[in-house]
Amino acid sequence: MPTDTKIKQKRTHFCGTLKEKDIGKDVTVAGWVDTSRDLGGIIFIELRDHTGRFQIVADPAKNKDVHKVFEKLRSEYVVIVSGLVTKRPADTENLDLTTGTVEMYPTRIEILNVSRPLPFMFDQAEEVDENLRLKYRFLDLRRESMQKTFHTRHKVTQAIRNKLNDLGFYELETPILTKATPEGARDYLVPSRVQPGKFFALPQSPQIFKQLFMISGFPKYYQIARCFRDEDLRADRQPEFTQVDLEMSFIEIEDILAAVEEVLISAFEAAGAKISSPFLRMDYDKAMALYGSDKPDLRFDLEFIDLTDIMAKSEFKAFSQVANSSGEVKCLCVPGISEASRKEMDDLKALAMTKEFGAKGLAWITFKPDGNASSPIVKFFKAEEIDEIKKRANVKPGDTLLFIADKPKVVAQALGKLRLHLGEKLNLIDKNKHSILWIVNFPLFEYDHAEKRYYAVNHPFTSPKPEDISLLESDPGKVKASAYDVVYNGVEIGGGSIRIHNMELQSKVFKILGLDDETAKNKFGFLLDALSFGAPPHGGLALGLDRLVMLLTGHHSIRDVIAFPKTQNASCPLTDAPSDITEKQLKELSIKIVEPK
Ligand code: AMO
Ligand code: AMP
Repeated sequence: MPTDTKIKQKRTHFCGTLKEKDIGKDVTVAGWVDTSRDLGGIIFIELRDHTGRFQIVADPAKNKDVHKVFEKLRSEYVVIVSGLVTKRPADTENLDLTTGTVEMYPTRIEILNVSRPLPFMFDQAEEVDENLRLKYRFLDLRRESMQKTFHTRHKVTQAIRNKLNDLGFYELETPILTKATPEGARDYLVPSRVQPGKFFALPQSPQIFKQLFMISGFPKYYQIARCFRDEDLRADRQPEFTQVDLEMSFIEIEDILAAVEEVLISAFEAAGAKISSPFLRMDYDKAMALYGSDKPDLRFDLEFIDLTDIMAKSEFKAFSQVANSSGEVKCLCVPGISEASRKEMDDLKALAMTKEFGAKGLAWITFKPDGNASSPIVKFFKAEEIDEIKKRANVKPGDTLLFIADKPKVVAQALGKLRLHLGEKLNLIDKNKHSILWIVNFPLFEYDHAEKRYYAVNHPFTSPKPEDISLLESDPGKVKASAYDVVYNGVEIGGGSIRIHNMELQSKVFKILGLDDETAKNKFGFLLDALSFGAPPHGGLALGLDRLVMLLTGHHSIRDVIAFPKTQNASCPLTDAPSDITEKQLKELSIKIVEPK
């Protein structure tokens, strides 16, 4: 019996890898005490490292010294243990554990470190307040599921890098302290000490610099780039996030889409999922018309049905007025809600009428299994009209039509929201399906009626489709962009465009956007300058790496796949950032704080 319980050797195996093939081997493992149970003197622990858990048992009858050390063990103590791998007795096997058929009665153990009691139990982490998890993120990340997620993130990132390297892209870096970039969000600013009163902006994306790389003559660029955007946060939005940013010169749209498809296929493969190319392509107009979204989730159908022409002739004023004044009347044909309660229908109505979506009402007609229509509005329609509606919507007995009449934008938003809601609620979504597609032919500009001006749908360097350039002056609203988004399961995971590489065209677009020469020169003068020195045709795209990993690992929030994310109010509970700075620092920066009223 060794009396020296100390271990002088390094670990030989990882906990989660021990299997029956290792039975009889003398191994050394190290890690954290995951659970510890004292069953009548015999102490069982599960030791955990990044690969998984392994059961280790101390029996005072077998080794008193080891058992004495085991008595001191608590959750998250760090230990190194040696002994023979043995087979577990058949009735004590744990099939939930990859190592569940083997165990160890160690001959040596050393406590490498102790731990304070945990602020939350690891097996209850999903239920505790997220702020607590973020405050102790170093512990949260130690959990088995998080280790797995971040291992996948690593594998996906490396697969993307490898593919881009194979395709001849250069990995290049761009500045973080820079000037405002035009992605449409608010900037994070950094004051300059050396030049009092002046500020750097953190990049919203490397957009302009990657265009400069093309003008510099690099053929293909990529960067796993950090981007900063001060905007309202949501489950799929962080103020600081990571893009797989890329740009290519002397190419056409097809070259970019093909490269990105290859990159995504590799990324999916690294996460154990299979998709194949070519991806489906859908026009922006079609996506908006059928799904009310430029990021449609095609894992289920439930398409919009346009009844505007039928309703224009009907007696139902709420619909005919809208239909006759450049509005739309559209419906969803929903199976399985014909027996819904009044309250359930009211809930759907409330959803459609949420301020955010702004529908003025939600009307419905249910077709009972006997074929009869029942609804508060059915009395407004002639029998032929009901027949026409049934035919257009391909109604089956038991289906319910949900109608919204409004401006196209409101119909798209409200009916689109209902579609997604019902897809989840009625289990219409095939969760084994990968819905990946390109949305193409976006409009170049969007008109803001309140401000009476055009905005760039993408950023202002996006090229119009060559065949639409002649419309720039006469009808900017009709101009389509050489832009594309890639959408996975209803989430925009990437977007890009062919850029304008001609200074005159760029100036023209700036003008339409209301940027006069002076402002354009101030903001992006260096780009305009560069465009006038032999800029090659170029274009690119950026993937949202966090969103991609979130979807590939089955999470619902990108905070779960970012090691140290910010909370909803853009702060970090771990470091307490943002925080106060000293008077001295403020003075150095020539900044005075005006207390908010
Ligand atoms: P865009 O603004 O569309 O394009 O961004 C590209 C992708 O980045 C992801 N993304 C975000 N992810 C998390 N949090 C955010 N706040 C956030 N904002 C965007 C999305 C999006 O599809 N320079 C252009 C690209 C180009 O034209 O090449 C750009 O930044 O998945
Ligand atoms: P009313 O005649 O205004 O009482 O409306 C009858 C039904 O039609 C109600 O269920 C309303 O919610 C619905 N409704 C009214 N306006 C609209 C609209 N613009 N779009 C969809 N449904 C509507």
